[in-house]
Amino acid sequence: MVRTTLQLVAFQVLVILMSVGADYIPPSRFDGFVYGKGSLNLLDTVLIEAFYDPVCPDSRDSWPPLKQALHHYGSKVSLLLHLLPLPYHDNAFVTSRALHIVNNLNASATFPLLEWFFKHQEKFYGAQTRNLSRDYVVEEVVKSATQVVGSSYYNAIKNGFNDTNTDYQTRVSFKYAASRGVYGTPFFYVNGFLLPDAGGAVDYKAWRKVIDPLVGSKKSKQNEENLHFFL
Ligand SMILES: *[C@@H]1O[C@H](CO)[C@@H](O)[C@H](O)[C@H]1NC(C)=O
Ligand SMILES: *[C@@H]1O[C@H](CO)[C@@H](O)[C@H](O)[C@H]1NC(C)=O
Ligand SMILES: *[C@@H]1O[C@H](CO)[C@@H](O)[C@H](O)[C@H]1NC(C)=O
Repeated sequence: MVRTTLQLVAFQVLVILMSVGADYIPPSRFDGFVYGKGSLNLLDTVLIEAFYDPVCPDSRDSWPPLKQALHHYGSKVSLLLHLLPLPYHDNAFVTSRALHIVNNLNASATFPLLEWFFKHQEKFYGAQTRNLSRDYVVEEVVKSATQVVGSSYYNAIKNGFNDTNTDYQTRVSFKYAASRGVYGTPFFYVNGFLLPDAGGAVDYKAWRKVIDPLVGSKKSKQNEENLHFFL
């Protein structure tokens, strides 16, 4: 009797786990947007992972110095941007979803749209958006994205908000951030390790201080020696 009950409980737990998790995790591809051209060469560059919310002022303030650092280091440093739409930022999910929609249509337009949201953040959150309907906000976001990507994309972007796959992608971003223990924006990881002072902007000098020693020791022979040392 006890055994049957336990089996039943185990089965129910399994059913619950399958019905909750199976839709999302793991996703079919790794979360995130790669900055610049090409794909990510994970093991040959210093990898910065940034967790941003498009309507977060601290994310906005941290982007110019990070961008400057990326341009300084060129191919030695890569950026993988993850989105964490925070529940206490109005329209964070809608704007994050717009980034996924646009990234699917034209990946070169993703970062320009992120910069557009940063520049016009005040349009999307705070008291002045309190009376705006969800439909109205989506329409405004579609119009904004169209300005960046090009007017011929209006319908494609609008349809993107009807496509459950883009909702799914945005949920995966949220879940990925949560699974990494990220609870605010901006958060930065360098080669998989959390930068201290998470949640605030890091200035250009601070980026140089973090990355200079890493690219300085990037000669492959020395790396191999380090690897042996650590293994
Ligand atoms: C994709 O976006 C980039 C950047 O906004 C733009 O220069 C390019 O023309 C776009 N490509 C297409 C096919 O729309
Ligand atoms: C929102 O609506 C309320 C009630 O109609 C009104 O008093 C308030 O001024 C409106 N706020 C804005 C920002 O439009
Ligand atoms: C989105 O879906 C709704 C309901 O299925 C439909 O009425 C609407 O026309 C669709 N909008 C677009 C832009 O496809």
